Amino acid sequence: MTQMLPLNDGRHIPQLGFGLWQVPAATTAETTATALNLGYRLVDGAAIYGNEAGQGEGIRRSGLPREQVFVTTKVWNSEQGFDKTLRAAEASLKRLGLTHVDLLLIHWPCPRKDLYLDTWRALIRLREEGRATSIGVSNFQEPQLTRLIGETGVTPVLNQVEINPRLQQPALRAFHAKHGIVTQSWTPLGQGKSFETAPVQAAVRRTGKSPAQVILRWHLQIGAAVIPRSTREAGLRENLNLFDFALTEAEMAAIATLDEGQRCGPDPARFEMD
Ligand SMILES: NC(=O)c1ccc[n+]([C@@H]2O[C@H](COP(=O)([O-])OP(=O)(O)OC[C@H]3O[C@@H](n4cnc5c(N)ncnc54)[C@H](OP(=O)(O)O)[C@@H]3O)[C@@H](O)[C@H]2O)c1
Repeated sequence: MTQMLPLNDGRHIPQLGFGLWQVPAATTAETTATALNLGYRLVDGAAIYGNEAGQGEGIRRSGLPREQVFVTTKVWNSEQGFDKTLRAAEASLKRLGLTHVDLLLIHWPCPRKDLYLDTWRALIRLREEGRATSIGVSNFQEPQLTRLIGETGVTPVLNQVEINPRLQQPALRAFHAKHGIVTQSWTPLGQGKSFETAPVQAAVRRTGKSPAQVILRWHLQIGAAVIPRSTREAGLRENLNLFDFALTEAEMAAIATLDEGQRCGPDPARFEMD
């Protein structure tokens, strides 16, 4: 159903998945099972979302074999450091009811804490132990990526960062491409702030697709992996229906002009919340 992207450790990741941030714990299993039955094969979670139990339950409820579902979770800021991260990962696996995740990420670098290097070493250990098949990061910027690679020789497979038409991050994406790191876009719809813009509306008129579909297609065509969230079945269905059209070069160039460097979420250089 969805295209796969190669990872720098020899594995592959579905380019399109769905995210579980702010999905209520009580309905996460149902949302997850619905999404998987619609055709999604990647589910993006995190310890801080408070719904890992539902994430795991939804995977089981979908009836899909475990190896057909790509499962991501993330280590929260308060759990950074070597030993704490090992314990946090075990706690996540227990809540998920899984023996391993396909991708484990450091959720935020927290540069002032300065523990992300030790945290990364714990992720390397977890990969060696088979508790995480692949390891990566989220919200990292170039200096922190350079430090991880330089100090450990292990390049993250992926960096999950905020990307949407108003925050396109071209320099970071170029750095990722140079180092074989997949860019994965969070808040890909950008809170709908670009839906009514002329470039998006022009593509909507030509393709007959929705603004969300045009924007998600833009993510795919810049080469990013993308994890939109919807709690509605119709929304999940709409966000999966991206593979029967393409944006033209002119449409891609027009959407590129919407970049204003405007974030929806926190600035990773400053975000240290526990
Ligand atoms: N690593 C990080 O620090 C980080 C930070 C934020 C998010 N994330 C991950 O990225 C995922 C996606 O980001 P996000 O949840 O912030 O935002 P998003 O996917 O860009 O947008 C979700 C919002 O858009 C609405 N929506 C979904 N599909 C739509 C459609 N087709 N048309 C119109 N509206 C639509 C949803 O409402 P309905 O539910 O009503 O459809 C919801 O309000 C998260 O779930 C999480 O897994 C990671």
